[in-house]
Amino acid sequence: MAYFPLEELRKIETPYYYYDMSLLRSTLQTVAEQAGKYGFYVHYAIKANPNHKILETVRNYGLGVDCVSGGEIRAALDAGFTGGQIMFAGVGKTDAEIELALDANIKCFNVESVPELENINAIASRMNRMAHVAVRINPDVDAHTHQYITTGLKENKFGIGLDLLDEFVAKALKMKNIDLCGVHFHIGSQICDKEPFEMLCDKVTDVLAAMEKAGALISIVDVGGGLGIDYNDPDANSMADFESYFKLFADRLRLKPGQQLHFEPGRSIVGQCGSLITKVLYVKEGASKKFIIVDAGMNDLMRPALYRAHHKIDNLTSTSAVDDVYDVVGPVCESADCFAADERLPLTERGDLLAIRSAGAYGEAMASCYNCRKLPASIFSDGL
Ligand code: LLP
Repeated sequence: MAYFPLEELRKIETPYYYYDMSLLRSTLQTVAEQAGKYGFYVHYAIKANPNHKILETVRNYGLGVDCVSGGEIRAALDAGFTGGQIMFAGVGKTDAEIELALDANIKCFNVESVPELENINAIASRMNRMAHVAVRINPDVDAHTHQYITTGLKENKFGIGLDLLDEFVAKALKMKNIDLCGVHFHIGSQICDKEPFEMLCDKVTDVLAAMEKAGALISIVDVGGGLGIDYNDPDANSMADFESYFKLFADRLRLKPGQQLHFEPGRSIVGQCGSLITKVLYVKEGASKKFIIVDAGMNDLMRPALYRAHHKIDNLTSTSAVDDVYDVVGPVCESADCFAADERLPLTERGDLLAIRSAGAYGEAMASCYNCRKLPASIFSDGL
């Protein structure tokens, strides 16, 4: 099992996120090495976890960032990333966000529609800037993942369909303050099979040929993020298989000289290094079930309530050799406030400390103050 410094953790007021920074560093080291083999560029998707200390650590390994709001651009700049390391995506960029991005001289806007392109051109012209643009393409590839985190199907709101690409390119090439230099794809998240990525590679090849035919000179090929992690056994698989992932793209995609391949992983970088640490308030015998009621709620970690996601739960303090089956629930006034149903755990009692694992991505980042609860704190293994 992962190492949790219990003596220190016991003293901290729960609930809080605990980050194993040595796991984060070894993950980043692996990503840098494996992507570096092929000269690929990696932009960490800030949305997974925008914590300042995490961003600084990511920056130390030479990665860039993928942002989806002005707030994320500011968080990146605060953490020391340069404009040239920032990609800016998102279906609904406001004028103020576009101005901020142009001011920061970001590497590329990932643009999702013709009206957005027209607006960026107008703002760039007013500011006397050139906006570098990648067109986000909806490749209609099924990522075989949860419907809420599938993004590359034609019925999703993201990107431009292949049928509208020619029109987009023709318009972009005529705009004075737009430099159309890239193509962008992202088919979904928590993808654990090779097949959707293989299909993506084939679509990318087709799109690059179409772009060339349409007269666009493409230097940035961005294939998004999406690599999944093992939520059921984070100790056996504490790191995603980055070696095979990058190799798949290296083997299957043939790029022209001068074309750079970019990736935007979020979950696979920070997911396994974070756990939500929570204390058992009560163990309650229901009519047909035993409930462990903990002091963390769905406001601290939304993924189980929102996606019915399963996160492994460890009891860090029980020494019992006997197991039982429990529903682990929070104190929030919603039936969805349930971290796990029928979870097998060692006999658990009031005061035990539980770790809800694999919560480094989309955990703290999605926390809210629902029920007037405090936002969870973040604790780093380095700082103990
Ligand atoms: N690039 C784009 C354009 C994205 O939309 C996303 C994620 C990523 C990169 C990073 O994907 P990743 O490598 O993390 O799979 N809240 C959900 C996940 C939402 C993902 C949204 N987009 C969850 O908790 O599962």
